[in-house]
Amino acid sequence: ENTPLIDPFARPIDYLRVSVTDRCDFRCTYCMAEHMQFLPKKELLTLEELDRLCSTFIRLGVKKLRITGGEPLVRRDIMTFFRSIARHLDTGDLRELTLTTNGSQLAKFADDLAALGMKRINVSLDTLDADKFAKITRWGRLEQVLKGLEAAKRAGLKVKINTVALKGFNEDELFTLIDWCAAEGFDLTFIEVMPMGEMGEDLRLDQYWPLSDVRKAMAERFTLTDLAESTGGPARYVRLEESGQKIGFITPLTHNFCENCNRVRVTCTGELFMCLGQEDNADLRAPLRASEDDAALEAAIREAISRKPKGHDFDYSRQTVSGQMSRHMSHTGG
Ligand code: GTP
Ligand code: 5AD
Ligand code: SF4
Repeated sequence: ENTPLIDPFARPIDYLRVSVTDRCDFRCTYCMAEHMQFLPKKELLTLEELDRLCSTFIRLGVKKLRITGGEPLVRRDIMTFFRSIARHLDTGDLRELTLTTNGSQLAKFADDLAALGMKRINVSLDTLDADKFAKITRWGRLEQVLKGLEAAKRAGLKVKINTVALKGFNEDELFTLIDWCAAEGFDLTFIEVMPMGEMGEDLRLDQYWPLSDVRKAMAERFTLTDLAESTGGPARYVRLEESGQKIGFITPLTHNFCENCNRVRVTCTGELFMCLGQEDNADLRAPLRASEDDAALEAAIREAISRKPKGHDFDYSRQTVSGQMSRHMSHTGG
């Protein structure tokens, strides 16, 4: 009964991503519509339910827990949840507790996050130009995020910047972003834009900037060495020999990384998605609410893992898009 979670393709599942809210203070255009209908509060898992859920996964062998959203730091009292779940770091049952954030609230929370044992955070940032930032987030203030990043640095948190590669938007900032990250001491990862959430007719084909092209552009200025190391996520890393910095590539489109998938995600309403790019999911809220005892919850988790699919089928090749879905990234937590 204490066997770890292993899926049908013999992949051990030890990385859980949990979205704690579908809300966000920004509206990145590739993620959300300008006017979003957010879920009523009663649909959300309570902080206590989230704690029970994460603790159960940890008992089943999850070693890395990433909290996402929406913007996780806009969830009320989220620090109470973090402080409680950090007990699993102290016992050694959990190896890493981390966060993916847009950075808007970091100035307020960075010290607390570091104090409870967080080491590393991922911060989404697609441009260093204040006007472009306001445009892509629809109203976000770059200044606020930069202040948050400074606070994170001062608190001793390691920062990885996540940049969605967008043709015609941040193509011209490739080296600006790289140089800025080198100067700040941040790692940097590029992500291929996925056909999820709010899409127009073009399904983002016009924005799609394959990371194979990003890599080519980078190679004109830097010597790239492929690294074997992993942070336990889907990114593959290179080192830029001239600056010594590490750059990651998350390539759901050009290079499918599903083969080594080690993760599942839970939405803010307690649906367990076995794959970001597939609709199949299992309701964990029902067993959570049906009983104080975690046995039913555990059984539901195991049953769901036993039907984890082989991978997603996002594809932009031959000028067509497949695998697209209307589900928002903020719902599933990326
Ligand atoms: P670390 O390796 O710990 O830095 O984290 P990570 O890359 O797993 O987490 P992060 O939240 O930075 O992920 C960045 C983005 O990668 C996510 O928001 C998704 O867009 C994408 N991503 C992560 N996991 C998957 C996955 O299983 N499938 C697909 N298609 N995309 C994923
Ligand atoms: N394609 C790729 N990445 C996306 N993100 C949000 N929507 C998309 C999308 N359609 C990214 C954000 C953030 C992470 C949580 O997911 O930029 O870095
Ligand atoms: Fe908010 Fe992140 Fe979505 Fe942007 S990508 S709207 S910051 S959840």
